[in-house]
Amino acid sequence: MSEPIISFRDAVKEFPARGPRRRRHRPQRAGAVRAVDGVTLDIAAGEVFGVIGYSGAGKSTLVRLVNALETTTAGSVVVDGTDLSGLSEARLRPVRAGIGMIFQQFNLLRSRTAAGNVAYPLEVAGWSKADRDARVAELLEFVGIADKADSYPSALSGGQKQRVGIARALATNPRILLADEATSALDPETTADVLALLQRVNRELGITVVVITHEMEVVRSICHRVAVMERGRVVELGDAYQVFSAPQQAVTRRFVASALRDRPSPAVLRRLRGRHPGRIVTVRIDEVSGSSAQVMEVLADRGVHGTIVYGGITEVAERPYGSLTLELVGSDTEVSAALAGLHAVTAVVDHGTAAAPLEDQSDGRRDTTGVGHDGGTPSASGDLRVRPHRPGGGPFGGPTGLVEGNDR
Ligand SMILES: Nc1ncnc2c1ncn2[C@@H]1O[C@H](COP(=O)(O)OP(=O)(O)OP(=O)(O)O)[C@@H](O)[C@H]1O
Ligand SMILES: [Mg+2]
Repeated sequence: MSEPIISFRDAVKEFPARGPRRRRHRPQRAGAVRAVDGVTLDIAAGEVFGVIGYSGAGKSTLVRLVNALETTTAGSVVVDGTDLSGLSEARLRPVRAGIGMIFQQFNLLRSRTAAGNVAYPLEVAGWSKADRDARVAELLEFVGIADKADSYPSALSGGQKQRVGIARALATNPRILLADEATSALDPETTADVLALLQRVNRELGITVVVITHEMEVVRSICHRVAVMERGRVVELGDAYQVFSAPQQAVTRRFVASALRDRPSPAVLRRLRGRHPGRIVTVRIDEVSGSSAQVMEVLADRGVHGTIVYGGITEVAERPYGSLTLELVGSDTEVSAALAGLHAVTAVVDHGTAAAPLEDQSDGRRDTTGVGHDGGTPSASGDLRVRPHRPGGGPFGGPTGLVEGNDR
């Protein structure tokens, strides 16, 4: 990792018990809310870093520590070489100037046009009219709404408003862009456009982008690394692909399940069995395990006919990830041989057939579906195998990832 541009060291932010925004009781010290609870984290210059967590996890508080809208109760936050703890307002000003921020609700000035909104921080920073005009034109061009320069926010769509927000945040050439739920108010297509724009901000301008989100989709599509927050703490951290292809924590598995159709839930499986009498198996597709070509080749080799009945392949951090549920049709011997072949190339969950179903009892599944098991049917020993080369099987293999056989 290149040199960190943002460093948290045991950062703690506590709000007094009677804060106006108190929504939850998480008493730490005499009823105080510990919104950020001992976070140690380095964000590298030039990366797109995601912070994902459910509501109340402390994400916004964490980013507010970066631009010093909040100050730490304990620990430190260093931004671009400056330790923010105990800095005077005057000393904080240049640090804040190096940070742009965009928000879910855009926070545009209604009385100003798009151009006027983008010009605002330049006026505050004392730029001349001519320099401002040139910079505003350049920024509106970059975000793709040059034709909307004279429109007021009321006449702009959500996506256009966020583009104005991004242009405004970039106006004074920040090194860091903080995006707090910047796409949460947008439809999926507009979200994709705005995420693509944030990616350009990172790639073309070299700006470090910190994305705060509760949407797995956002992390999946643009983040290089990700921190998963829960109750003020970072519970999982790393390369986005690694974290999401082998999640260690229940909360991370829930995020993965929200974005990727993983293994079929018990209810889906019942319907699949109703429609497909053959052997149902779910195979993992990713960079480390098998590709769909390998899977199809195994089936063809063993003379087994395979039909995809559920699942899909998508990308996490621009790398392939997904799972396919297949119905295998062939003689018992052929299907057994095919299963052995599949186990050799990837992680496989064998669901059995409609006539002889196999129950999936891995923990990962309980966590990702959140639905109770049908129970009853004894599990099939030896049929829940995940290849041992993969640390942390996550949604596929349970919390340890090393489910060899089934001894639960
Ligand atoms: N100014 C404040 N005073 C008191 N408590 C606060 C304050 N700001 C945040 N909190 C509390 O700190 C915790 C974390 O809040 P925060 O807004 O950082 O969460 P979040 O992860 O951004 O949630 P969301 O996804 O809903 O935006 C919550 O319990 C919240 O109620
Ligand atoms: Mg928030």
